[in-house]
Amino acid sequence: MKTTILGTGSFLPEKVLTNADLEKIVDTSDEWIRTRTGISERRVADENTPSSELAVRAAQNALDMAGLKPEDIDIIIVGTVTPDYSFPSTACLIQNKLGARKIMSYDFSAGCTGFIYGLKQADAFIKAGMAKYVLVIAVEELTKITNWTDRGTCVLFGDGSGAAVVGPSKDDEHGILATYTAADGSLGDLLILKAGGSAMPASHETVDKNLHTLYMAGNDVFKHAVRQMEESALKGFELSGISMEQLDWLVPHQANIRIIDFLARRLKLSMEQVVVTIHKYGNTSASSIPIALDEAVRDGRIEKDSNVLMVAFGAGFTWGSVTMRWGI
Ligand code: UT7
Repeated sequence: MKTTILGTGSFLPEKVLTNADLEKIVDTSDEWIRTRTGISERRVADENTPSSELAVRAAQNALDMAGLKPEDIDIIIVGTVTPDYSFPSTACLIQNKLGARKIMSYDFSAGCTGFIYGLKQADAFIKAGMAKYVLVIAVEELTKITNWTDRGTCVLFGDGSGAAVVGPSKDDEHGILATYTAADGSLGDLLILKAGGSAMPASHETVDKNLHTLYMAGNDVFKHAVRQMEESALKGFELSGISMEQLDWLVPHQANIRIIDFLARRLKLSMEQVVVTIHKYGNTSASSIPIALDEAVRDGRIEKDSNVLMVAFGAGFTWGSVTMRWGI
């Protein structure tokens, strides 16, 4: 049997932070940000809107598209590095806010690869007979862990959420054809939130040193991202049997337009076949793929029989891909 995505949903906070706004906060320029990253603006959640609020809106949109109700869902899994709390999990908060049954609900941490890891888990649960419908959510509010004095990172990130309802496919032609996931923990220090966990509990010193904000060695991460996203894409072709020529849509993690351009060139795709949202939403971490996917499904670019490849790379390091033939 195959599993498939029955519905997608996304939700972005209303508030827009432009490059011009950032010029007033740090020593940067609209020109640098646009040419080095492809970002023009990003969305920011307000202080009183935690990740679970964005997630519930995306989840509800995905359920509506799937024609399902919260009580139909058997498992809720949430990929996030910006949960509302360390515990209880954001998934449990969402279970309650959605009004789902008292089903297994949990968070996991796979950085920007969260949605890919989530789809793989959903696929496995359903194939194992443990669930019929799994709600996969990716939600991030990276602006809440941003160091607003570090121009190398603060211009990059935005908030948002995306979701997918995964369930059994009606036939063997449509749905998830292949999943590929990998990790290398030896490089974890290059992209890390250092304080607040058991390795470095919160203290006055950690707050004074800004250690509760995201640290990224951008240039090193860039090189690994380029390499591993290409590897993930090639694995996707190999495992799914879809050839490069047969691919209709690439939905990559949106970290930097230069990474996306490079990947498209390596896969011999025109940029017309790539779903890009980075200019308006920045890097929304795990949420970037389901947000882009939802946009392309809703505007009709991705339609029945489209061959779709999703590719991600993120903190951990983690990376991977999901290859699908769209349809139920
Ligand atoms: O989502 C998870 C995975 N994340 C990624 O894949 C992100 C990967 N990394 C990147 O996208 C890029 O490395 C960045 C966008 C973060 C940085 O771009 P870069 O081309 O790698 O720049 P750099 O860090 O090598 O810095 C080049 C120069 C430096 O100045 P000097 O030392 O050459 O004088 C920086 O200080 O650009 C400077 N710079 C800036 N200038 C204006 C760095 N950030 C800014 C800025 N505005 N915001």
